[in-house]
Parts: sequence; C-alpha cells; structure tokens
Amino acid sequence: MPRTLDPELRRALAARIRYYNEMGIYDFYRRPSSEHAGEVAGSIAVDEQEANILEHILQPGEEMSPRKATAVARPIAVDENMFGAIALKPEQSVSDPVKALKIIREDLGDCTRCVLHKQGRKQIVFGVGNPKAELMFVGEGPGADEDAQGEPFVGRAGQLLNNMIKAMGLQREDVYIANVVKCRPPGNRTPEPDECDTCSPFLMRQIAAIKPKVVVALGATAAKNLLAMNSSLGELRGRFYDFKPAGVRSSDSSWPGARLAVTYHPAYLLRDPRQKGETWKDLQMVMKYLGIEPPKKAAE
Ligand code: URA
Repeated sequence: MPRTLDPELRRALAARIRYYNEMGIYDFYRRPSSEHAGEVAGSIAVDEQEANILEHILQPGEEMSPRKATAVARPIAVDENMFGAIALKPEQSVSDPVKALKIIREDLGDCTRCVLHKQGRKQIVFGVGNPKAELMFVGEGPGADEDAQGEPFVGRAGQLLNNMIKAMGLQREDVYIANVVKCRPPGNRTPEPDECDTCSPFLMRQIAAIKPKVVVALGATAAKNLLAMNSSLGELRGRFYDFKPAGVRSSDSSWPGARLAVTYHPAYLLRDPRQKGETWKDLQMVMKYLGIEPPKKAAE
C-alpha cells in the first residue's frame, strides 16, 4: 500500500468513489488481471493500483452511500473487508426503525438531487405505514393525489391496493408502502432511469430500516429497480427472490434479508382487470410465506 499519495490523484479517486456512491454503487473489488467477466451489477472493478489507493483513502468513519441491491446472491467478487471498515449510514447505528426512518427522511431533506424537484412536485412523498411491517409494498412514484396529500397510494390505484391488502386479511396500517421515486413525475410519466437511480438509495435505506420479511414490487418500474433485472413483468412475477438492499452487510445478523415478490401494479389492474387473478396468486404466495390465513370472504 502506498504511504504517500499524489494529492491530485487522491482527490480524483475520492471524488470518483463519491460519484459511484451517489449512484448507489458501494462495492469495489479488484479486477482480475485478464478479464471483465466477473463484473457484477452494483459493483465496480478497480485495478491493482486503484485498489491500493482506495485502501489508503477509505478511512473508517468516512461516509459511504448505500448500494443498490442485488436480488440474487451478493456479488461474489466483493470482500467487505478489502478496504477496511466501511462506515455505516447514520440510521444503521439505531435499532429503532421509527428513529431510523426519521434519520433517512431528514437526510432526504427538501431534495433537489434530480430534475423532478423542479417539474411541479408539490411535496416529497416519503412512505407510510408500520415501521416494523413484515410486509412492504413498493410502487413506482407518486401521482397527482399522492403529490397533493403527501402519502403514497391514496388515489384510485391506492384504493385498489387497499382492497388487495384487505383481501390478504391485513389493514393498510399493518404494512409499509413506498415508491421508487419520491416526487411526482410530470404528467405521471414513468420515472427516468437516472431519477430512479438517484432516489432508490433512499428506498433501499427504508427497506433496510424496516427489515420486512417480504417486499412486494408493484409493477415493472419497482421490480426492475429493486431487482436490477430487465426482464418483463410476466417473466419476473410468480416466484420469490432473495433480497438484501445494498448497504446491508451479509454479516448483519439482525436481519437475513427479505423475500421479494413481483406483481402487477394496481393502476395496470384498473386498466386490465383480467390480471387480478394472477395478482391474487402472487399475494397468496406471500400470505403462505408469512403464515397469513385469508379472511373467508376473500378466499371464496
Ligand atoms: N402509483 C404508484 O406507483 N405510487 C403511488 O404512490 C401511487 C400510484
């Protein structure tokens, strides 16, 4: 490991790490000399010299942003100890999820990190529900009603989501509900990838604070962002994925991670009610895993 570093180089590398962190990339691993094939989503390969320099400049206590989750196994090339202690996000030192969510909300602040802040949003829609929920639903982004009320899923799609939750034998207050982006995209357009990438680290931190047993991704935007996979919704739904948000250490014994299920977005179901049956199958899979008996009426 070099003892002294050219200050220019040190500054440039530190800036690069922060840039990757801002994008949710948190893992760095040494690139094997002759190949790129081992690169994994959410990780950055660095060469031997860079690795040595990173080792030198990543001091314990330096703040690192969370990574995006990898839905399958954690990247095999990652060695958490490679660069010594990597600092936790502030909420990771508190065990109370209420306090943790408050810290994350404060960190989000009056966010101006992406263009959505200047495209007509009235307010940030952070999330709502039980901070200790076993079940969490993740949608795409606030619509007009959510933007007006500051709460996710309060419009027509929200009414349908409430009915889905009730059909499972639960109350809206039992679960936690959040979105990939926390500001309304103008005209309810799909959020752009860079908007999702900027905002999703906060969602990852919410999930890590709540530590649910199951996360249900509602629709393609949520599914693709949580899973970092680009398959169609039809291909993604109907099974569980092991899910640990970026930034949660594999050695964290307080939470093994969640199971993640993908299903149709309620707004899509309003347009195509024929998919309600498939959605109910996905929710039944979740209920079985959580040991929830459906109320008789919903079970038919
Ligand atoms: N659609 C979403 O994806 N999220 C909401 O909060 C409302 C509608």
